[in-house]
Amino acid sequence: MYKRQEITAAQLDAQRAYCDMIRAAIAPRPHFAMVETYGCQQNESDSEILRGWLMDCGYSLTDDASRADMIAINTCAVREHAEKRVFGNVGALVHNRAKNPDLIVAVGGCMTQQETVKERIRESFRMVDLVFGPHEVWQFPELLWRTMERRGRRGNRSRLIAASPSDGVVAEGLPRQRDSGVKAWLSIMNGCDNFCTYCIVPHVRGRERSRRPADVLAEAAALAAAGYRDITLLGQNVNSYGKGLDDGVDFPDLLRAVNAIDGDFVIRFMTSHPKDATEKLFRAMAESEKCARHLHLPAQSGSDRILKLMNRHYDRKKYLEAVALARRYMPDLVLTTDIIVGFPGETEADFAETLSLVEEVRYDAMFTFIYSPRTGTPAAAMPDPVSRAEKQVWFDRLLGTANAISAEKHAAYVGKTVRVLIDGETNDPARNLSARTKGGRLVHLAGDPSLVGTFADAKITASSTWALFGETARQ
Ligand code: 5AD
Ligand code: SF4
Repeated sequence: MYKRQEITAAQLDAQRAYCDMIRAAIAPRPHFAMVETYGCQQNESDSEILRGWLMDCGYSLTDDASRADMIAINTCAVREHAEKRVFGNVGALVHNRAKNPDLIVAVGGCMTQQETVKERIRESFRMVDLVFGPHEVWQFPELLWRTMERRGRRGNRSRLIAASPSDGVVAEGLPRQRDSGVKAWLSIMNGCDNFCTYCIVPHVRGRERSRRPADVLAEAAALAAAGYRDITLLGQNVNSYGKGLDDGVDFPDLLRAVNAIDGDFVIRFMTSHPKDATEKLFRAMAESEKCARHLHLPAQSGSDRILKLMNRHYDRKKYLEAVALARRYMPDLVLTTDIIVGFPGETEADFAETLSLVEEVRYDAMFTFIYSPRTGTPAAAMPDPVSRAEKQVWFDRLLGTANAISAEKHAAYVGKTVRVLIDGETNDPARNLSARTKGGRLVHLAGDPSLVGTFADAKITASSTWALFGETARQ
C-alpha cells in the first residue's frame, strides 16, 4: 500500500556519514566516477543527484568509462528498445572490469524495479556489483559503502541487489551536480497514478507524490538566484500536482508562484495529461510572463476506441477542445505530443484517425513510438494481431506527415527575428551555439561562447524539420 515517506534530516545526515567513510576509503589516490543516463528527464534529474552524491563521496566525475573506478547506469523501462541497449552496454563493461578489477558497476533506474530484470542481472551479468531502484537514490552512499564492504570481504563475487518495491519516498536536501549552469530540471513530483494500460511507469516509479510547494519554491528561488535561465518543472503528470497534500496549491497556482520569483528566466514544464489540462492552467500560463509558450500534450492516439483501451480518460473531441482553448489563450503556443502506433487491436481505421488528428492539430514537433509490450501491464495481455512490419509502415507514414508539418512550421520562422536563450555550445564550428525560442524550438547560431546563458535576438535565416538556423541580430 502506498504511504508517503518523507526522508528526515537525521536519515540524510546518516547518508552524509557514509560519504565521509567512502571519501576516507578512496583517499589514497584520485577516483573517478561516471553516470550514464537512459530515458526521460526525470532520470536525468536523478542522475544529477547521483553525481552530487558521488562528488560528496570524494569522486571526480568523468565521461570516459575506461578511466572510471565507479560506473552507475541509470536505466529506463518505458520501451523494450531502451532495455536492450542497457543490457548490451552493461554486458560490454566486462572488458572494463577485466582491465580494472576494482571497478564498481551499479545499475539503477526503472528497469531494476522489475523482478525479471533483477533475475537476469543476477544470472547473466556478473560484472554488476549493485542494483538499486529510483526509490533508493536518496540512500546511494549507504548502498555504495555496503557494496564496497562486501567486495572487500568476499572479493568480486558478492553483489548487492537492493531495488525495493514501489513506495512513496519524498526526499529534500539531496546534493545535486547539475549538468548545466543555464538550464535546470526541477522535479516537483514523482510517480504516476494514471495506469495507462501500456505504461510501466506507475509500476516502477510508484504512486504519485508531490513535493511541498514551499520546498519547490525555495529550490526555484535558489536556481534563479544562482543565475539559471531556464527552469523545467518535472513530473510524470504535472497537472495533478498537489494531490494528497493539504497545502491547497495546484499546478496552476504553483506556476504563478514560480513566475513571481525575481529573476530573468523561462519556466517550462512537462508532462501534461490532457484529462487534467484545464482552462485554469492555460490562463495561468498566459498570465505568467516567464512561462514558455509551449505545451507538451501527449495525445497517444486519435481514435476514441483506442484511447478507451489505453485508459486515457479523454476522447478525441475533448482533446481537440483542450488544444483549441489553449490556443485561444496563447495564439503563439508551440504544441508537441507523444503518439503510440500499433497499440494492441489497433486497426487501419484507428490509425487513420490518429493521422487525421495530427493533420488537424498540426504539431510543431512529435515524439512517435511503436507500441512496445511491457510485462505486467494490461495491454501486454491484449490480443495484438497486427504484424510488426505493418506497424512499421503506419509508423513511417505518421513520421512522414509529422516531419512535413514540422518543416512547414519551422519554415514560417525564416526571415523573422525571435528572442532566444543561448543555452549551450554545439560541435558544429559553423554554428557553434545552441539556443531555444520561448516556445522551445531549437536554434543553431554562430557567436561567441561567452553568450551562453544570455538572452539574444536571433534572425532566422534557414530551417529544417528539427531546427532553426540563424544569426544573432544586432542589439
Ligand atoms: N510502448 C510504446 N510507447 C510507450 N510510451 C509509454 N509506454 C509505451 C509503450 N509500452 C510512450 C508514451 C509516453 C512516452 C513517454 O512514451 O507515448 O507518452
Ligand atoms: Fe505512463 Fe500514462 Fe502515467 Fe504517462 S500518464 S507515466 S503514459 S501511466
